[in-house]
Amino acid sequence: PPMRAERILERLPQREVADDLHACTRCPIGAQATQAVPGTGPTDATLMIVGEQPGDQEDLAGLPFVGPAGQLFDAIATEAGLDRSAAYVTNAVKHFKFTPRGKRRIHQSPHRKEVDACRVWLEREIAQIQPALIIALGATAAQTLTGDGAALMTRRGRVERGREGIPVLITLHPSALLRSGESESMRALLLADLQLAAAMTA
Ligand code: URA
Repeated sequence: PPMRAERILERLPQREVADDLHACTRCPIGAQATQAVPGTGPTDATLMIVGEQPGDQEDLAGLPFVGPAGQLFDAIATEAGLDRSAAYVTNAVKHFKFTPRGKRRIHQSPHRKEVDACRVWLEREIAQIQPALIIALGATAAQTLTGDGAALMTRRGRVERGREGIPVLITLHPSALLRSGESESMRALLLADLQLAAAMTA
């Protein structure tokens, strides 16, 4: 059947955001990346998940959280009873920042200025999706969503008030868990935080 007009209109702002995003020169990272990686997921999602920036695989695929960190996140989310496909998944920074080392591209953390320059895109996604809860994965997402750069591990598991007044659940980034060699205690913290998110959005 033909798509209802409301449905088509609903999709338009998303396209506009993505189209402008691909031409973004607000910071220098985009010049080096393959493409910008906008958020994906249902526009009526009650849960938004925000990471740091696309990684190597996300940069190539044009989709967030499809690489190793995303796969680890998905496994723990499923265990927590959280359905990632029902959430809107995005990043604080929309381009991959890296330094080339031989054939490899080594992740570089974005500078505060770059995160600030990119916030306009995240704000537009939040305005469009209007989630009931946002999960901040790691320090970069927590800082840009709340405006507070305090140490992550003292805040994780807490729900803070985001810039837009939306509750932000702070937790650790799955990449930190990967770097720790999948430490059991860190995995348990991320699992507990995602269980809280599942309970809050059920
Ligand atoms: N890490 C992130 O923060 N985001 C991604 O999309 C992939 C890895």
